[in-house]
Amino acid sequence: MGDPSAARILKLLDGTRFRHIEFLPSVDSTQTMLVAEGGPGGRVIVADHQTAGRGRAGREWLDVPGAMLMFSCLMKGIPPERASRVSLAGGVAVARAIETVGGVPAGLKWPNDVRINRRKVCGMIGELAPSGDYVVLGIGVNVGHAEGELPDELGATSIRLSAGSAPRRDELCAAILRELDALVSSDFMDEYRRRCETIGSEVRVEMRDAKVEGTATDVRDDGALMVDGWAVVAGDVVHVRDA
Ligand code: BTN
Repeated sequence: MGDPSAARILKLLDGTRFRHIEFLPSVDSTQTMLVAEGGPGGRVIVADHQTAGRGRAGREWLDVPGAMLMFSCLMKGIPPERASRVSLAGGVAVARAIETVGGVPAGLKWPNDVRINRRKVCGMIGELAPSGDYVVLGIGVNVGHAEGELPDELGATSIRLSAGSAPRRDELCAAILRELDALVSSDFMDEYRRRCETIGSEVRVEMRDAKVEGTATDVRDDGALMVDGWAVVAGDVVHVRDA
């Protein structure tokens, strides 16, 4: 697969807030860099390889250089109380883009893993700058991995493995950002709930100092996962039995 082209992404994002696109062959983490540096609203950093990629809950995020779409984008003007909804919007944006550009149906696992055939194809991390001035959303999509390039125990897949071919990463990136641009200022929670495969599943949620097990019944408009009457606002979910 060729490198994503910043110029091509920019052209496809005409009319959106995302007007500052940078491509780096290698960086420690697009997320660490953008959270630390800030910059204009609509700044996007795309990388081919990360040497210190970050996952949710302090985990590391490893990549196969050239096989993943990895980027972080900076958004301003989001009220702090709506910041957590940006990453839910991100899940819907990636699912839509995978369907239109990749040609395969995609679902969500709470809060924002994107799945194809119930296997993880994308993870994301949303962070509010310490100043509260901007939100940075970091997205990693498995695009071009071939058989054997994703360890089986991860329960992951790539678009190529699921759809038979890999889309161009710059086209996928632009499609995600176009969707995200529209979704952050709209009411998308009904679509989120329709796509969310956690609702109706038997789940185990591991939080910092507690564990909840039961049936996930809903995701509230504020993003909380309802498990047998308990509202879970953050934590790792295991689907014990899928819906
Ligand atoms: C997860 O599922 O744990 C979230 C993974 C987020 C990975 C992306 S890749 C681009 C951006 N830079 C990072 O260091 N992390 C995010």
